[in-house]
Amino acid sequence: MNMTQMESALRGLRLSGMLETLSTRAMQAQTSQEPFLETFAALLQDELDRRRSRLMDRRYKRSGLDERATLADLDWRFNPKLPRAACFELQTLKFISEGANALIVGKPGTGKSHVAKALGYQATLQGYDVRYLEADGEFARYALESSQERAQLLKDWVQSDLLVVDDLFLARRVTNEAAEVLQAIVHQRYKLRRAIVVTSNRVVQDWGKYLGDVTMASTILDRLMHRCTMLEFEGKSYRLKEAAARIAINAEPS
Ligand SMILES: Nc1ncnc2c1ncn2[C@@H]1O[C@H](COP(=O)(O)OP(=O)(O)OP(=O)(O)O)[C@@H](O)[C@H]1O
Ligand SMILES: [Mg+2]
Repeated sequence: MNMTQMESALRGLRLSGMLETLSTRAMQAQTSQEPFLETFAALLQDELDRRRSRLMDRRYKRSGLDERATLADLDWRFNPKLPRAACFELQTLKFISEGANALIVGKPGTGKSHVAKALGYQATLQGYDVRYLEADGEFARYALESSQERAQLLKDWVQSDLLVVDDLFLARRVTNEAAEVLQAIVHQRYKLRRAIVVTSNRVVQDWGKYLGDVTMASTILDRLMHRCTMLEFEGKSYRLKEAAARIAINAEPS
């Protein structure tokens, strides 16, 4: 077989990792006269690396996350009161295997969503099936679907290893459909011991008001908080800091 034939064989066998590096590895072997097994091992590793990164990409896309956030991106000095140790503890993802939850509440712009997304992203890297929901938008979409589609969505939200419900009650009072689906998600995942991360800038005492049903709020919170890390984010809004920086730049004399 010549090089072109080998490449088309690798393509046919769907070994795209090897295909991509074959000519480089061949050149490397020739110039350094390395033993055959060493070159072969490197090629195998290329294939494994490529498969792993594709799998991670697929998992990331399926999660619905809109950014690859990490805890390292945060400036922890900006809001020194943030529960930093607890965030890193959550990032070990032990809570997922334990079927526990995390509830992140506090002031706007303090990084709650960022931390929730970082946990979701880390979980995709560790091989977990993750679903990220921006609560208002997704629950509004749910309300407009047919009953068959709703059942499918609910199944998807219940089945994942980790569900992130972000910015709950951002739009204050939610619709009855949203309240019911939230209750269904929390009840079913609780029974199955599957982890949920929820972020909200509304204190839990007011959840009854936003759900339009105090009893429902307490049954949801009861299950959510049974095995749960509670984090409170206090401090200044990073969005305002960024906005102030933009204004300062625009005001600079040109
Ligand atoms: N300490 C920080 N260091 C760097 N960036 C930060 C920090 N805190 C927040 N940010 C950034 O500021 C923006 C707003 O943060 P985020 O959306 O996480 O806030 P939030 O607490 O979820 O607010 P809300 O209650 O309004 O939903 C994001 O782009 C986030 O990455
Ligand atoms: Mg948020």
